[in-house]
Amino acid sequence: MFNLQRLLVERIEHRLIVGTVAFLLIMVLVGWIAINEGGRMQAFERQYNARSIERGAAIFVTYCAECHGTGLGISGVAPGLNSPYLFGHDFLAEVDTEIATLTAERDAEGTSDARRAEIDTRLAELDTERQSILTSLQPAIDRGYNPEAPSRRDSLGWTSTLYSFVYTTLVHGRPTSITYWPRSMPAWSQTAGGSLRDDQLQDLTNFILNWDKGTAWTIEDANAVQQYPIRPVDPATVVASDVETIGVNTPTEEVVAEVANYVGDPVNGQALYTGALACQGCHANAAVAPLVTDTWTRVQNERLTLPEYAGWTGEAYLAQSITHPNEYIAPGYGANIMPPNFADRISYQDLADLIAYLRTQEG
Ligand code: HEC
Ligand code: HEC
Repeated sequence: MFNLQRLLVERIEHRLIVGTVAFLLIMVLVGWIAINEGGRMQAFERQYNARSIERGAAIFVTYCAECHGTGLGISGVAPGLNSPYLFGHDFLAEVDTEIATLTAERDAEGTSDARRAEIDTRLAELDTERQSILTSLQPAIDRGYNPEAPSRRDSLGWTSTLYSFVYTTLVHGRPTSITYWPRSMPAWSQTAGGSLRDDQLQDLTNFILNWDKGTAWTIEDANAVQQYPIRPVDPATVVASDVETIGVNTPTEEVVAEVANYVGDPVNGQALYTGALACQGCHANAAVAPLVTDTWTRVQNERLTLPEYAGWTGEAYLAQSITHPNEYIAPGYGANIMPPNFADRISYQDLADLIAYLRTQEG
């Protein structure tokens, strides 16, 4: 033992060896800790996140389920959040990319006729495939989903992250959504007069974001959503600023008398209804508004048989419904849900077109 120590410590070469080995051992130890630190942090974050999601789930049941259900939304009350639309999944993306690539190749100059014929065959197949995807999504479409505009954030022009979209919605609520939903989305942050702390809002956001399925969203998922968001009607939108609008202060009798001088175009009426004026956003969902599909039959059989409509025509009833919706409230629906300002946004020609379109809706 004594000899060994003498050997190790007294000979300068041995001192160097001991020093070097010790140094290397320390480096290995430090390296080992450094490598594992990342994993340790990740595991810690995972646990932390999992706990946050769990807390979020409990808060959701207490505060959110009454309007959003289990997360799939409640028909006529509030939209689903556990939904491919919120996460921007595009069911048509794959087919559409192939269609675009093949169309570009077919239209390129050097492509041979044989290859063109081949491409056309494939394009016809893809068209059928696309159609069948749309057909299988019909239940979701009936509840307000539009597969051609698959991202909620894009539809709203939101360019930041989904996290901030959800979090901001929770903080401020959507006070104006009362104009197109029976009850608006409340503000939850204490700073905005709500009842939840910021850390609780973060837990809720983590819980909602955890519904993301990435590329694994299925058509069944889309069809399971009970309610899709309604497109808000921007009250500032004036359809054609160069034409004179009817004006909300024009009394119903005057509107009815004047619109009779116009010949309506049902095709333009339909375009206004489903497009610019977004009537469809409400009237495609019976829980929100009377269905468009049998409007004309309903007007004839149910509205005009009421004593207050004795002597009215169906056209006059429609003119009133559109320009003065609160003068008569269809049974089963609330007042002030249909925007009362369409008369400020449309001309007599637009009104005649809308009426001509609604006349075609016989169920
Ligand atoms: C009184 C009913 C009601 C309650 C309670 C409610 N919401 Fe909402 N929420 C709505 C409505 C209505 C909308 C749709 C607003 C719109 O269209 O702009 C909405 C929208 C949202 C959105 C945005 C969805 C989108 O696609 O724009 C999120 C996220 C959301 N709610 C989360 C929550 C959470 C989390 C809670 C619980 C803290 C909650 N909501 C409680 C009615 C409610
Ligand atoms: C924000 C939702 C919403 C929008 C947008 C909307 N409506 Fe309505 N509409 C309603 C509701 C709710 C009712 C039933 C309550 C009432 O009579 O006001 C209704 C009633 C009607 C009726 C009477 C139907 C009946 O069975 O008696 C007609 C016609 C009508 N709307 C046409 C339109 C037209 C045309 C547009 C677009 C220019 C439009 N609506 C936009 C919600 C909406």
